[in-house]
Amino acid sequence: MSRFPENFLWGGATAANQIEGAYDVGGKGLSIDDVFSNGSYTQPRIMSKETEDDLYYPNRVGSDFYHHYKEDIALMAEMGFKVYRLSIAWTRIFPTGEEETPNEEGLKFYDRVFDECIKHGIEPLVTLSHYEAPLHLTNKYNGWADRKLIEMFKRYATAVFKRYKNKVKYWLTFNEINVANLPLGNYLVLGVRNEGSRYYTEQVDNPQIRYQGLHNQLVAGAWAAIIGHEINSDFMIGNMIAMNPAYPYACDPKDVLLCQQNWDENVYYCGDVQVRGEYPYFAQKIWAENNVTIEWGEEDADVLKKGTVDFFSFSYYQTLTVTNRDDVEKSGSMLGGVKNPYLKANDWGWAIDPDGLRYTLNMLYGRYNIPLIVVENGLGAFDKLEEDKTIHDPYRIEYLRKHIISMEEALADGVDLFGYTMWGCIDLISAGTGEMAKRYGFIYVDSDDYGNGTFDRYRKDSFYWYKKVIATNGEDL
Ligand code: BG6
Repeated sequence: MSRFPENFLWGGATAANQIEGAYDVGGKGLSIDDVFSNGSYTQPRIMSKETEDDLYYPNRVGSDFYHHYKEDIALMAEMGFKVYRLSIAWTRIFPTGEEETPNEEGLKFYDRVFDECIKHGIEPLVTLSHYEAPLHLTNKYNGWADRKLIEMFKRYATAVFKRYKNKVKYWLTFNEINVANLPLGNYLVLGVRNEGSRYYTEQVDNPQIRYQGLHNQLVAGAWAAIIGHEINSDFMIGNMIAMNPAYPYACDPKDVLLCQQNWDENVYYCGDVQVRGEYPYFAQKIWAENNVTIEWGEEDADVLKKGTVDFFSFSYYQTLTVTNRDDVEKSGSMLGGVKNPYLKANDWGWAIDPDGLRYTLNMLYGRYNIPLIVVENGLGAFDKLEEDKTIHDPYRIEYLRKHIISMEEALADGVDLFGYTMWGCIDLISAGTGEMAKRYGFIYVDSDDYGNGTFDRYRKDSFYWYKKVIATNGEDL
């Protein structure tokens, strides 16, 4: 007997900037991803201010979903998807972010995409902002550092909520909003460029800008929840948090305290605002320690209180191990931390930890007691396209199987989990490294790191496996 509820939402997830391509088609403006160079595990990506001829920008091409969406959604339907998580590119709707009225061609594109989903009985789950701020707003205002973005985002959210109110029920506000709280999240989440190197991982952190930008975004997200519920009271609007749950390296109480602080800063700081409508008790201390003074708008506290979410969504790939000791080998993951001796990592240093998913689900449900959905989970790996166009990816099946078992265990623990969208169901550009070679999909896209290839789609072995998983509602793993 399957432990998954009968109406469990099985599916996959992508983001506009990583999959669509067609960066200058249909009146689209440039987003920060369109000037974000390619990179690798060892070579960080460069943030340019404008197009530079000697740099390559992989998100401009993506997986060319813009021209393949019908075929792609048909493949999802073949796997039996109940839900497809995707994002809207703000710059297709408001090319610079500052226009008064939306771009009709951009709106029409998503009409076609949602119609295609609905035709196949797939529920769209739509992220309003997935690492894709308009470049113009970054260049002119330093992105979310400026409160003016709140109004612009409200205009954008209102336009898409009104347009798709009968096609989309499930919405997410900002992808991995809490990543803004890590120095490397400045660019992707907040669209902020600070002093320092052009490599996005090496910006000089400015806590004043970072915490203010995050505050502005939290307020904008709360506004979106308020506006969305006014437009359609049936809307289900969720937040989206990157879960990289911390473990103490040792049972040394100092490591345990470090771990607790990590949960506070990286999970509860944003989660509490979005679910409970106010900052947690320790926020004042964080601001004081960082010499941060948050500029509050008159209505902010009220907006945060009213604009809380209906459900909690999160991504989960890896766990983080923290310690005060300096004699332990570093993890190699872009998150930092040290190597966990009990876990193996993928080729990018991400510690693979299925049990950590059960732990995460219980920790989140215990604190928030609202429905949860895993909206990203998957394994980035090098895949090989064989001559007969097959792709054998037992490592991916193994990874997913173990994480699904972990969800099953959390359900048995009593957690209210209503869905799972595996990340990068179709191969796409890696957010962290800009590579195509770091593949996640059930569906292989024939393109390399520089956009060379036919862009033909091929089913991997994991495609057939996931189809069986969905058909048996998680029983046959
Ligand atoms: C999440 C993001 O952080 O992780 C996705 O929401 C991203 O956009 C995914 O693609 C995997 O990370 P990466 O760096 O392997 O693409």
